[in-house]
Amino acid sequence: MTKLQFPAGFLWGGAVAAHQLEGAWQAGGKGVSVADVMTAGANKVPREITAGVIPGKNYPNHDAIDFYHHYREDIKLFAEMGFKCFRTSIAWTRIFPNGDELEPNEDGLKFYDDLFDECHKYGIEPVITLAHFEMPYHLVEAYGGFANRKVIDFFVRFAVTCFKRYKDKVKYWMTFNEIDNQSSFNNDFLMCTNSGLLLNNDKDNEAEMYQAAHYELVASALAVKEGKKINPDFKIGTMINFTPVYPASSKPADVLLAQRLDQRRNWFSDVQAWGYYPANVEAYIERKGFRPDITAEDRIVLKEGTVDYIGFSYYQSMVVSADKVAPDDLADPTEAVVPNPYVEKSDWDWEIDPVGLRYALNELTDRYHLPLFIVENGLGAVDKVEDDGSIHDPYRVDYLRKHLEEVRKAVVLDGVDLMGYTPWGCIDLVSAGTGQMSKRYGFIYVDKDDKGHGTLARSRKDSFYWYQKVIKTNGADL
Ligand code: BG6
Repeated sequence: MTKLQFPAGFLWGGAVAAHQLEGAWQAGGKGVSVADVMTAGANKVPREITAGVIPGKNYPNHDAIDFYHHYREDIKLFAEMGFKCFRTSIAWTRIFPNGDELEPNEDGLKFYDDLFDECHKYGIEPVITLAHFEMPYHLVEAYGGFANRKVIDFFVRFAVTCFKRYKDKVKYWMTFNEIDNQSSFNNDFLMCTNSGLLLNNDKDNEAEMYQAAHYELVASALAVKEGKKINPDFKIGTMINFTPVYPASSKPADVLLAQRLDQRRNWFSDVQAWGYYPANVEAYIERKGFRPDITAEDRIVLKEGTVDYIGFSYYQSMVVSADKVAPDDLADPTEAVVPNPYVEKSDWDWEIDPVGLRYALNELTDRYHLPLFIVENGLGAVDKVEDDGSIHDPYRVDYLRKHLEEVRKAVVLDGVDLMGYTPWGCIDLVSAGTGQMSKRYGFIYVDKDDKGHGTLARSRKDSFYWYQKVIKTNGADL
């Protein structure tokens, strides 16, 4: 029997995004991002996207957990857990407050210099997402987000600025977070966070998504090309929300539908990894008559700017039934989904499927033949602080342990080339989907509630010590 162990040099760490933890939304000349115009929602209550910042509304990302002023303390705690890497994003609006300036904002650049230096002090490698739901709101208002070709240049300018400035401090990059989320093109939140699109009834959301996504893919490929010129040792990846699709039964229509849904969702990384659109997408947009603006030059850029690795988040799988929609009628993937009777759910109704992660790792390996990086995985849960200040979160340990057991099998038994594992929200932060603080993912508890009250004090949960042991034993002791 093979010894179940992770490879030497495996990148254990944790993941966050600037807008969900930094706060300080106006400090150092920062501009307003799309996250800054999203109010607090609740469990099953969507966040409102307001037209600018409206006084009196609760915008939880404005202050978040104030990582901007606490990062030294927080990175020290990550180091105590033994992190080898730390995934965060660079808030676009700290560097280009409105997005269309010609020169970057030095205060913003300096903040990330200091942050990366602090990581390196402890031997922690920064893993950086360039655009994690943080587009400057001005680009939405003045240009219509990525529906406008001009936004490609603004993104590339931002990317090149970061690549040049941090070329000796950051090796691992990703261009757009969960670029495939927008396949659910009728979802306001996903369209705004991915591409800066505001839905309204006058537009064909699906057609607009294919156009905006194309410009984003060109922007991503250009960034990869430019990045490699600046430092050929950079590793630049895609970042997708990989959700395995299972058929509800062995009925051929269910199986075909599962494949079709996979095609509707996962073509974004096909383009980024292969450098061209898969035939099924070309045929689909032709059949629907969308005619997006895709030039011959764009196609060359896509070929020249392919990614080095596949970064992905894994939270759940999904089941689809042809009783809901016939395979050839499928457009919006969410229309086909049915509950999975074989798995449990989180309090936020996210299905919990550790085996699906092993499936995902194999699927992505077979599809792309590239190294993989699990850059998000985790359980959002309510935590209780005991009278003595301790926080017992066996549910979180149980979730992560079961997932890591499957990851280890994929690596050791199936030969998957995995670079690392960074569980989501290693420190409690603002939920992207709901804006809640009470949907907690962290190993580190932050004293703040959904109304914004709290001391912001940090404390170690039981899972902190568990993860510390996992890293120390390089995953041998889960
Ligand atoms: C991913 C995002 O979709 O899921 C993160 O990349 C997000 O930004 C995470 O926070 C968990 O989702 P939520 O809605 O629970 O915060």
